[in-house]
Parts: sequence; C-alpha cells; structure tokens
Amino acid sequence: MTYVSDPAAPRIAIAGATGAVGNTLIELISSRGLRHRGVRLAASARSAGRTVEVDGRAQVVEDLDGFDFTDVDLAFFSAGTSVSEKWARPAAAQGALVIDNTNAFRMDPDTPLVVPQVNADVLLAGRPASGIIANPNCSTIPLVRLLQTVEQRWGIRQVVVSTYQAASGQGQHGIAELREGSALALSDPDAELPADRFKPALAFNVVPFIDKLLDTGFTMEEQKMLQESRKILGLPHLDVTTTCVRVPVVNSHSEAVWIEATEPVDRAELVGRLAALPEVTVHDKDTPGGFPTPRTAGEPDHVHVGRIRVAPHNPRGFWLWLVADNVRIGAALNAVQIAEYVLDRGLL
Ligand SMILES: NC(=O)c1ccc[n+]([C@@H]2O[C@H](COP(=O)([O-])OP(=O)(O)OC[C@H]3O[C@@H](n4cnc5c(N)ncnc54)[C@H](OP(=O)(O)O)[C@@H]3O)[C@@H](O)[C@H]2O)c1
Repeated sequence: MTYVSDPAAPRIAIAGATGAVGNTLIELISSRGLRHRGVRLAASARSAGRTVEVDGRAQVVEDLDGFDFTDVDLAFFSAGTSVSEKWARPAAAQGALVIDNTNAFRMDPDTPLVVPQVNADVLLAGRPASGIIANPNCSTIPLVRLLQTVEQRWGIRQVVVSTYQAASGQGQHGIAELREGSALALSDPDAELPADRFKPALAFNVVPFIDKLLDTGFTMEEQKMLQESRKILGLPHLDVTTTCVRVPVVNSHSEAVWIEATEPVDRAELVGRLAALPEVTVHDKDTPGGFPTPRTAGEPDHVHVGRIRVAPHNPRGFWLWLVADNVRIGAALNAVQIAEYVLDRGLL
C-alpha cells in the first residue's frame, strides 16, 4: 500500500488509465511503492464510471474531457498523441507536472525527453518550461540505453537497426486484433482477417510499416528513432538508420542492431560493459538458450541482449540482438522511473 497522508507525497492522475500502458502504470505505482496521496483515473467517455482497483482501493474512472487538474501534482498521459496535444498543456497550466507517453512533445525544445538510465540529469534544471517531460518511443528507449556506453568507450560511426515490434505497441486493440486474426486464420486459411490496427492483417504475417509514411520514404516510427536518439544522447549528428517492422508477437519488441564504432571493439570488454549496465541482462553465447526472445527473455523490467558478435572482416563493427517489454520499459516503467527520479530529488 503506497497511499500515504504525507503532504509531500504527490496527488497523481493517469490519463488513458484503461489502456495497456495505463493499466501497467497502475500496477507499477503499486508494485514499486510509489508514495502518493491518491491516484485519479481518466479515460474517454466510453470508460467513464467504470471502477478500477488502485493500491487495493476501487477508483472510478473519470471522463478526461472536463477533468480538473488543479488538485493534481503529477499527471501521466498515455491516451494517444491527439489527446495529449489537446489536454497536456492545460493540465500543466493547472499545475500538474505531466509525464507524457505519446509523440506529442518529444521534439519540443521546452520539453526534456528522458530515459532515466541515460539522461536523467537534464531534469535537475527544474520544472521544464512546458511543464511536460516526454517519454521516448518504445524502440528508442532500450536502444539508447545500450548506445550510450558504446559511444562513451569507442565512439559511434553508424547504427543500423531493424525492429521486430509486437502487437501490444498498438495497445489493447492491437493485441485483440492479433489474437482474433490468428484464431481465424488457423480455423480457415482463406478467411478475411481483421485489419483495423494493422494493415495488412498481422496474423501469420510480417509488416515493414509502422505509423505514417513520410516524404523521405521512411516511416514516422523510423524517423522517431533517429531524432529521439540524437536528442536523448545529446549527439545531434548521430547516424541511426532503421527499418521498423511489425511482427505477430503479442508483447515485447526485439531489435537487430549493427553498430560501427570509430575504434576496434573487443568483444569481451563489450559484453562486460553491457552486462554492467543497470537493469540490463546479457545472454551470452555460452549460456544455455544463449539469446533472448520475447517469450523467453525473463525479467520483464530488464533490457535483454544477446548474439553479440564482432564482425571478423571489420573489427570496428558488431551486431547485437535486444528484447525489451515495450509496454513496461518502452512506456510505463520509463515514466514511473522518471517520476521516482523527480520525487526522490524533490524536483516536483
Ligand atoms: N503500447 C505501447 O507499447 C506504447 C509504448 C510507448 C508509448 N505508447 C503510447 O501510449 C499511448 C497509449 O497506448 P496504449 O498502448 O495504452 O493504448 P490503448 O491500450 O489503446 O489505450 C488507450 C487509452 O487511451 C484512452 N483514450 C483513447 N481516446 C481517448 C480520448 N479521446 N480521451 C480520453 N482518453 C482516451 C483509452 O480510453 P478508453 O478505454 O475509454 O477508450 C485508453 O485508456 C499511445 O499514445 C501510445 O502511442 C504506447
């Protein structure tokens, strides 16, 4: 139970509380013992009036439209980009510090973009001018947690990434559509499969297209990984190029990452440095099942790394494979860890 009467503890609100990320935020606030003086829940009019348990107390979900943030100290937003565009600034103007999970403010110069294990120190400057702290994209977060140590030790010349992104990246409806489509395809291979969240249908398929197409030929998801990595790492010229692919996996994104460093890389040292990072597990080639997969990686709050291999023809270049829970590490956990950092240092 983390409900306390201590006036220093924040009054929390969650916008998007009934979604995949919102549910996980509620669970993490409880399981990590984030002290608070109450958690109010908001979602669309569709969910208003439902009750959801928070820290053992039944809490009624309110309609975000008309929600009053004047009694809220900390507001998590995970209800979609257009919802954040409409409501996050008003919430901040009413006094709440907003931690936003959407794409709405990530590249806003007045909004820090934070992965606590990488650049939490940007928060020491105090409350951001926008009143908002942005959570990065779910594929960017685990990647930059590994890139930082490579950059500091060897320097990075180029990063080439292919992502393998799970259906849960499209929230609860994405998971439901994959399950429904898979069941339908198994019962009738010629059936027309549901394709609202994923086009074409994701069941038994691999789709190299996420978010919208840009004039460059890249997708928005691919552009996010470049721009956000540069901003978080403070490397405005970092060369990251990506192909983002949706795969028929329920949860946890994977990435195949090629990194070309500026100096030759010693594999044993690389493994040691990655394994020493906080909340990172390296599955090395000599251990049983020596690579992580979305189903077998284990500890959901760790970034899992495997298949680390320096190229014999180019000792500056190496591949690795990573797996990370996109709903936790890529969204809710990162947001809660931002909150913990802010609260622990009295920065609210
Ligand atoms: N899933 C991930 O891996 C992930 C990772 C990083 C970032 N994000 C971002 O987090 C956000 C939420 O993702 P999710 O996966 O949790 O989606 P989700 O499962 O579809 O949940 C969406 C939530 O937003 C609420 N909502 C939708 N439209 C609304 C409106 N007009 N006004 C108020 N509330 C509204 C929904 O409420 P109702 O139940 O009432 O419809 C629900 O609570 C998205 O912006 C997403 O891009 C997700």
